[in-house]
Amino acid sequence: MHTGLKITIIGPGAMGCLLAGYISRSGLPVSILDYKSDRAKRLSKNGIYIETGEGNFQSFPRITADASTLGAQDAVLVLVKAGQTANALKQARPLIGEGTVVVSLQNGIGHEETLSNIAKPESIALGVTTQGATLLREGCVKHAGQGETTIGLLKAYDLSLEKLNALSRLLTSSGWPCSLADDIFPHIWKKLLANVGVNALAALTGIKNGDILTLEHMKRLQGLAVIEAWKVAAEKGIKINLDLDEAVEYVRSVCTETAGNISSMLQDRILNKPTEIDYINGAIVRMAGKLGIDTPVNEVLSTLVKVSSARGWKPVKPD
Ligand code: PAF
Repeated sequence: MHTGLKITIIGPGAMGCLLAGYISRSGLPVSILDYKSDRAKRLSKNGIYIETGEGNFQSFPRITADASTLGAQDAVLVLVKAGQTANALKQARPLIGEGTVVVSLQNGIGHEETLSNIAKPESIALGVTTQGATLLREGCVKHAGQGETTIGLLKAYDLSLEKLNALSRLLTSSGWPCSLADDIFPHIWKKLLANVGVNALAALTGIKNGDILTLEHMKRLQGLAVIEAWKVAAEKGIKINLDLDEAVEYVRSVCTETAGNISSMLQDRILNKPTEIDYINGAIVRMAGKLGIDTPVNEVLSTLVKVSSARGWKPVKPD
């Protein structure tokens, strides 16, 4: 199957490599844009290596640091860390043509604002994925859990919808089940609730997602953080379709499904990389402030992650 779609993934992190690896394995062309040219050269030569429970595979997508060699794409998937989006998009300008759809599959909230610096609102899509990915070393990813991906346009527009549909079919046929949503925001917020209830707690204590549920105090703290975020969503009129108890239960179910996963924020802290705290718990605190809602638990979590990052404190990698 050759869909004729030109696709570039921005960012050779865990999720970017995993996705490129799957698309490329199914024989479809896909490129990765990396801002580091030395790493792009190494990855081009060595390929991407994916470890899964059902066997490992290697694939060789095109990887470059020079977007002008790729030209305008049908779909650009943004998979860099939230704080790197603005810089990554500057480098990606040659990828964006009249009909390019730019899809953010990043954790956290508010990416559409940064994306609108490079693309028209009707060409912007947001998405969420529950695929689990751990970067073991450069270009080598452990597929830590099969998940679902949902994407949707910021603004209805037929031409972009056609491309998004084609992208969704391509991902599904590559082994990444993907569906389209008319309103993507409830999905973004549902994922945000999971990130609010998992990432900072794991990053501050160095435990795997599933272990949060085995420690009564952590489980309680998780519930409190999620309840605060749920209240912000409710006040903003986001239709998550979960009541308070269901929201907490949902986040616990994510912990169970991804029990063995080292959350992305814990991976960042272990590698002493910037975290996405400002787009997760920090974003909840900012939005709550504007709405007059108190979110002390998220404020504490956000502050502690920032201070420990600034001080270079490194959690020990869990076994
Ligand atoms: O950021 C992450 O690690 C993931 O989004 C999630 C869902 C918390 C699972 O680890």
